[in-house]
Amino acid sequence: MANADIGLIGLGTMGSALALNIAEKGFTVAVFNRTTAKTHAFVEEAGDLAARVVPCETLEALTEALKGPRAIILMVPAGDAVDEQIRALDPHLDAEDLIIDAGNANFRDTMRRMKALDRPFLGVGVSGGEEGARHGPAIMAGGEAAHWDRVAPILTAIAAKYEGTPCAARLGENGAGHFVKAVHNGIEYADMQLIAETYGLMRDGIGMAAPDIAPVFAGWNDGRLASYLIEISAKVAAAHDAATDGPLLDVIVDAAGQKGTGRWTAIEAQHLGTPIPVIEAAVAARNMSAQRDLRATLAARFGTEERVDLSMDMLEAALTCGKVLCYTQGFDMLRAAAQAFDWSLMREDVARNWRAGCIIRSAMLDDMAEAFEVAPGKTLMEAPYFADLLAQTIGALRHVVVTASGAGLPVPAMAAALGYFDTMRRARGTANMIQGQRDYFGLHGFVRLDNGKTDQHGPWADD
Ligand code: 6PG
Repeated sequence: MANADIGLIGLGTMGSALALNIAEKGFTVAVFNRTTAKTHAFVEEAGDLAARVVPCETLEALTEALKGPRAIILMVPAGDAVDEQIRALDPHLDAEDLIIDAGNANFRDTMRRMKALDRPFLGVGVSGGEEGARHGPAIMAGGEAAHWDRVAPILTAIAAKYEGTPCAARLGENGAGHFVKAVHNGIEYADMQLIAETYGLMRDGIGMAAPDIAPVFAGWNDGRLASYLIEISAKVAAAHDAATDGPLLDVIVDAAGQKGTGRWTAIEAQHLGTPIPVIEAAVAARNMSAQRDLRATLAARFGTEERVDLSMDMLEAALTCGKVLCYTQGFDMLRAAAQAFDWSLMREDVARNWRAGCIIRSAMLDDMAEAFEVAPGKTLMEAPYFADLLAQTIGALRHVVVTASGAGLPVPAMAAALGYFDTMRRARGTANMIQGQRDYFGLHGFVRLDNGKTDQHGPWADD
């Protein structure tokens, strides 16, 4: 009987959690997994919710179980698996049936698929990890408004709520949803890196043990840095390891993994010509973290750090400042992409979407949404509230970067934030030298400051 409200393909961790979330909100969900055993195991473990789950062993069965026009969520690994799944599914669908790719797809793949497929398609970024998918993720959709409207009742019902407002929205056309998710992850990398650098200063610079660091983060979580990432950093620092009877953090290998979404953000920023040095530094820092053997060799050759004297308040202010500069860059990138791809994407809608459910959710995002509203077309650094916050905290960031650098302690993301700020608040930069050099060796021409004449050349043209 065709009575299911929505279909879901791919019962991995995220897919299973999302399907249970949908069933819990009162919708009937038809599920399919390539391995049938997994489908049955899923239903068995669904408990009371199994009444609203229709297990399907074939794609035909899945399409037969769904009300028309159908809507089917794909939760399969990003990349070729998505193309394969679409190829397998497409012949079973009617012209008006809607495919929703809710994996971490590269937005360029989403654009390509939308163009190639002659059917409704939405590219949807889902954030919040397994817990979010199960109880309320942030949902960032891209595609046609009419297609979003068809599934909005279900996707807003399962999304996280910020003071009652669902964190689920259509943020723009075609690839916009997956693009926003990639930038979310780029910011996620940078936010995590800034916190990790702060932890490093406490551990290596000040000599604090993990159990002493935990309450500092926990305390910051009651202030302007209140965020999911600060909250879990406190919990990670507090965790005890039974095997060694010491802090768990101390036995975790210092090489960060990555699935690639942060890297995509850095690559796309280069395509757009948008500066996002804090995010780039965070991606590079993950790559450096992986080079453990080389780091050990160089530590033996050059030695490492010295102690520093930094207060917790100074670190909190520096972290706040770095965070504002990192978000400035992420949101600038969204604005540049909206222009480049002709998306209706508004930064305030994205900031609102990120207020709950997603990994980078934080108290500051509500202020950011307001800042973009009061200062449309301006960067966060120009918006009155954040300009004041920067003015209050930039001294701390400078002091921390200078102190850390003086002692040989690595703070690449903080230093990138400071370098960005100092570059951007200098009206007369130094690229006149670069233009002179370019003209010298390649006759590329320059613009004169005094009379605005373009295509000028130096006397070296005649050398
Ligand atoms: C989220 C996360 C999620 C995931 C990424 C992290 O918003 O829920 O960003 O998508 O944790 O896989 O990616 P890395 O493996 O690259 O850290």
